[in-house]
Amino acid sequence: MEFFDIHSHMLPGVDDGAENLEEAMAMIDLAYNEGTRKLILTPHYVRGGNDYKENELPGLFENFRDEVSKVHPDMELFLGNEILYEEGVISDLKEGLIQTINNTKYVLVEFNIRTSYVQLYEAMQKLANARFRPIIAHVERYRCLFKHIERIEELTRMEVLLQMNISSVYGGLLDENARWCKKLVKEGYISLFGTDAHDMEDRAPYIKEYASWIEKKCGGDYLESAFWDNPQKIIENKYIID
Ligand SMILES: [Fe+2]
Repeated sequence: MEFFDIHSHMLPGVDDGAENLEEAMAMIDLAYNEGTRKLILTPHYVRGGNDYKENELPGLFENFRDEVSKVHPDMELFLGNEILYEEGVISDLKEGLIQTINNTKYVLVEFNIRTSYVQLYEAMQKLANARFRPIIAHVERYRCLFKHIERIEELTRMEVLLQMNISSVYGGLLDENARWCKKLVKEGYISLFGTDAHDMEDRAPYIKEYASWIEKKCGGDYLESAFWDNPQKIIENKYIID
């Protein structure tokens, strides 16, 4: 099976992901060997705190995409940002300082891990009111959502999309976090996965083994939606839920 990874930090030298072209290409090779054929590069966007000039990001992306296509012509890359939510990011979005996913209305948004639910919920409302379609990055990470299935339900009713880091499903029965993640996956709340790959060590872009667990537990149809069809709809700015 081929995979579409919607969350990664492989664009070299722009954030805490790949440090240079060599490391980035090693990550791309690994992803390719795992079966990944489409990838959204999502460098961190921190308001007023980026190591890159916002208007230079598309150019850096195009250069990197050219390098990748020399080695893997059948690998497709797209650009986005992982936006650390705070007041002001909506105006930055409107000004074009932030990359939505492949220039669509979809935005990948992260929060401080200790954010309150009120803050998170209001952010989703504000983004929706501004006509953006938010995807919450690594939804398993926020304390205010942990074991609050009613909040997860409320967010999905607002048509907020939930992304999980694929490696989070790894862990035995005694691992409370892994149990919670597996529950979210099995109950169908997770529409999208990403590797959130940052390097070739602890956070490398492995996917295959985790995906096979998901296939075993949730079936091939779910796997295909979460790892191919849904990301494909995102980059085409289509709705996932009709
Ligand atoms: Fe990330």
